Amino acid sequence: MSQITVQRAESLRGRVRVPGDKSISHRAVLLGAIAQGDSCIRGVLRGGDCLATIGCIRGLGVTVDEPDGDTLVVRGRGLDGLQEPSNPLDCRSSGTTMRLLAGLVAGAGVMTVLSGSGQLNRRPMARVAEPLRRMGATVLGRQGGRLPPLAVQGGRLHGIDYALPVASAQVKSAIVLAGLYTPELTVVHEHPQGISRDHTERMLRAMGAPIHSLGARVLSERPTHPLQPLDLEIPADMSSAAFLMVAALLTPGSRVELAAVTLNPTRTGLYDVLTAMGGQLTVENAHEVAGEPVGDVVVAHAPLRGTTAAGEAVVRGIDELPILAVAATQAHGTTVVRDAAELRVKETDRIATVVEELRKLGAQIEARPDGFIVEGPTALRGCTVDSHGDHRLAMALIVAGLVADGETVVRDTDCISDSFPGFERLLVRLGGKLG
Ligand code: S3P
Repeated sequence: MSQITVQRAESLRGRVRVPGDKSISHRAVLLGAIAQGDSCIRGVLRGGDCLATIGCIRGLGVTVDEPDGDTLVVRGRGLDGLQEPSNPLDCRSSGTTMRLLAGLVAGAGVMTVLSGSGQLNRRPMARVAEPLRRMGATVLGRQGGRLPPLAVQGGRLHGIDYALPVASAQVKSAIVLAGLYTPELTVVHEHPQGISRDHTERMLRAMGAPIHSLGARVLSERPTHPLQPLDLEIPADMSSAAFLMVAALLTPGSRVELAAVTLNPTRTGLYDVLTAMGGQLTVENAHEVAGEPVGDVVVAHAPLRGTTAAGEAVVRGIDELPILAVAATQAHGTTVVRDAAELRVKETDRIATVVEELRKLGAQIEARPDGFIVEGPTALRGCTVDSHGDHRLAMALIVAGLVADGETVVRDTDCISDSFPGFERLLVRLGGKLG
């Protein structure tokens, strides 16, 4: 099992581009598959989660070519062109792959078994099984359909009017994708806590699908024309940039530029929380790529003060809460994270694992049922910590190691490549001391 040793950093400086956005990469592959014609997608994230989606789409009979290291060509087969896979599809550790595919194959009516790693097979699936059953699909799984593997048999679905029981873009997207195949309108009401990431809706609209976002409602219906193929450059992932943003904020003398990052407002929760903490963050060169706002994020070291992250900011930054916990250990005062019970059903129970591992480094952090409370600033002390196989925890702990005294050893770091292949290399290029 691999491990990474981190020394305290002096300063981080430079301009880097983190890999392509994970959420947008998944959607480009899935939607490219049902477009009519070839989609050309540059800068797709080649991380484990997105490689799982590419493998599954091939399993559904779609050709995906890789003419060079950067470009993916998805040879779309149209809305009704997916083929029944002869084997279970392996979603590896990717919840997005399993949940979005469940909606897509239910709509398309191709009987499919979706399975994954031990980690994914512990994650809740009733949240997608239940609405898809209401639309007329049969969804079977362990424990009455609550846990993977899932067997999905759909086709001839009907539209529903559905209020999301959790603020989840994966659930919303599964229903919207299934809704592409229903003769009636499908309406999804966002959770009252906040509007979840809307990349599916934006991309489908860019492809000509009749998807409407009306306040907190999304309306999906069967397109009357074939979906147009995509031609896009995937922006850099805000959720990956987040680790380098916090690393730069916490390390004296730092100034880091992160090129072409997704600035979709449903993804900028951490940016806003760090700004409220006194962080020096600015956006340069703001522009749009395929309906998505993008810009360079410039971050300089700054003293931080504690804050409260709750409500919609948590929805807009749910994946960034482990690294926010690290920032909070260095902020003056109390940081409270609440309304974040969803953290308990991510790759790990991120409330439990973040608290357990940061405490080993000397952080004053306490778990709450729906979040955590951190008192700062604390002088962290290097020691051996464990990622629990969770990519975001592994990277958060490496950033903690950059500000800890002495040497920090982070164990079980292969998982970093699930979302951010090359993370260590970029950190070293900015001046981090990793071994
Ligand atoms: C994602 C949605 C979020 C997020 C995950 C990616 C997506 O999950 O945590 O990393 O691409 O739709 P939920 O939909 O479960 O909130």
